[in-house]
Amino acid sequence: MKNIFEAPFLIEMMRTTANMYRLGYDERNGGNISWMLPAETVGEYLDLDNVIRTIPTGFDASPLKGKIFIVTGTGKYFKNVEVDPETNLGIIRIAADGTTAELLWGFKDGGKFTSELPAHLMSHISRMSIDPENRIIMHCHPDYTLAMTQVHPADERAITRTLWKQMTESIVVFPEGVGVLPWMVCGTNAIGEATAEKMKEYRIVLWTLHGIYGCGRDMDEAFGLIETVEKAAKMYMLTAHLPKANEITDENLVDLAARFNLNYRKDFLDI
Ligand code: 13P
Ligand code: ZN
Repeated sequence: MKNIFEAPFLIEMMRTTANMYRLGYDERNGGNISWMLPAETVGEYLDLDNVIRTIPTGFDASPLKGKIFIVTGTGKYFKNVEVDPETNLGIIRIAADGTTAELLWGFKDGGKFTSELPAHLMSHISRMSIDPENRIIMHCHPDYTLAMTQVHPADERAITRTLWKQMTESIVVFPEGVGVLPWMVCGTNAIGEATAEKMKEYRIVLWTLHGIYGCGRDMDEAFGLIETVEKAAKMYMLTAHLPKANEITDENLVDLAARFNLNYRKDFLDI
């Protein structure tokens, strides 16, 4: 059996959480990540027949039966993952009943997975139906995105247009736009269902006055989406109150779409 502390997936979780903490995206216990891992890969490091304990999930995740995830713990700080991954992370498998998580490793202090597991697993189910290669769901609280949701109408078309017009790369990185949810109580099955529904259309979902969800085939895709939205939101918050001298027009966006061959939300433009 290989040493799990040398597993590339564990090292990537440690590096990503540390990076996000230092960027200010994840204050205190803010944010959570789940990553679906192949059983063969996990089996190189762990005895998959050894279930440490079982934890009810509180919802039906039957389509993910037998799937294994490495996931951040509830109440755990991203800044601490790097120093003690075995306490702050866990590796779980969705049991045959679809409503129980089998703990295979981690949550050493008796802890459990993020309170946002419903939004994560329901979003995994949604994204897999769109892109079978999707593996990551990532949630965090970046400053400018949160600030923007305080002052900008929570309308998908309007917010997408604003983000696209903040910087040239926006439409290239998220041509499908961003989904937006109104303020909702977090950690519930209801916000999980609403997020998962949006994830059928978008890889980015904003939670008004709370944060952002991103997804991807790997950590770079999910993180790259989030940091690009955050950068565009930052441009908006730095300039929204100032007179505009230059602006990306709808015609410019059409030209970008042609140049990069983008399958973008054409109904989000006024052309
Ligand atoms: P957890 O500590 O349960 O992961 O919650 C953090 C969070 O961001 C809630 O939305
Ligand atoms: Zn949150």
